[in-house]
Amino acid sequence: MPPENESETSAQASPARATSAKSATRVGAPALEPAPEPPPPPAVPPEELLAIISDIHGNFEALTAVMAEIKSRDLTRICCLGDVIGYGPNPLECLDTVIENCEFTIMGNHDFAILYEPFNFNTAAENSAFWTRQQFEKDPDRTRRNRRWRYLGAMQTRVNQKRFLAVHGSPRRPINEYIFPDDIYSATQKLASIFDRFNHLCFVGHTHVPGVFVPHPDFYSPIDLNQRYDITEERAIINVGSVGQPRDHDPRASFAILHHDHVEFVRVNYDIHATVEKVRAIDALDNFLGQRLIEGA
Ligand SMILES: [Fe+2]
Repeated sequence: MPPENESETSAQASPARATSAKSATRVGAPALEPAPEPPPPPAVPPEELLAIISDIHGNFEALTAVMAEIKSRDLTRICCLGDVIGYGPNPLECLDTVIENCEFTIMGNHDFAILYEPFNFNTAAENSAFWTRQQFEKDPDRTRRNRRWRYLGAMQTRVNQKRFLAVHGSPRRPINEYIFPDDIYSATQKLASIFDRFNHLCFVGHTHVPGVFVPHPDFYSPIDLNQRYDITEERAIINVGSVGQPRDHDPRASFAILHHDHVEFVRVNYDIHATVEKVRAIDALDNFLGQRLIEGA
């Protein structure tokens, strides 16, 4: 990119300039001032950055905390990689928030399950899907009901933007395929096949485990990266983690911000116990769905 090339050129040119200035200095002549530092690149306006959220799973406390964090940074562009609903106790509130704030939302396997049919779900997931669908049907306001069903029905399985591809699971099977960190050891052919399907950056959710896959193959967690992945020409699959049900043993809500030259991973505290109590109070939601929020796993 031009700004990086320019700064590289300046950095490389400085020592050469210093050497020629030194050799040109004569005895008795005043010492030359060192070359000034190049000015820092201009700050990117917050409205040009993009917050990427995923896997909210009806957890309104987590989503509210993430939205507050996004607003505190003056970010106005948000997109969602799917699984807005399913598992959690506040599906309607979460979907309404996403409808009002996100540029687009990708269809996740739980959104699909509630709109159409659960596919390959365990009992707890299936029960939560049917309960979630009941909440949609029970809202007496027909306008709100229609708006939600139509939004779910309009979700795309993949969105190609200028800088990236966005899917819920993988570019190969966008709704259902998981890309696990262990795949770098046990499924290298699968990863190679997935990397063949996009040009540069691919944002995903679905596993609820944030981090970056590169084609070697390798995987880096946000801790490995000090919460920052510097974008190069290398292809990368970037999992933004889960807002409402993290599974990387960090119970805080997870999301990411796409800056002009890097991706920032963000974690946010929220009132987990409030969500756990709501899950416990709803018979159709397995208590395990609350317990795992405390463990972040
Ligand atoms: Fe999910």
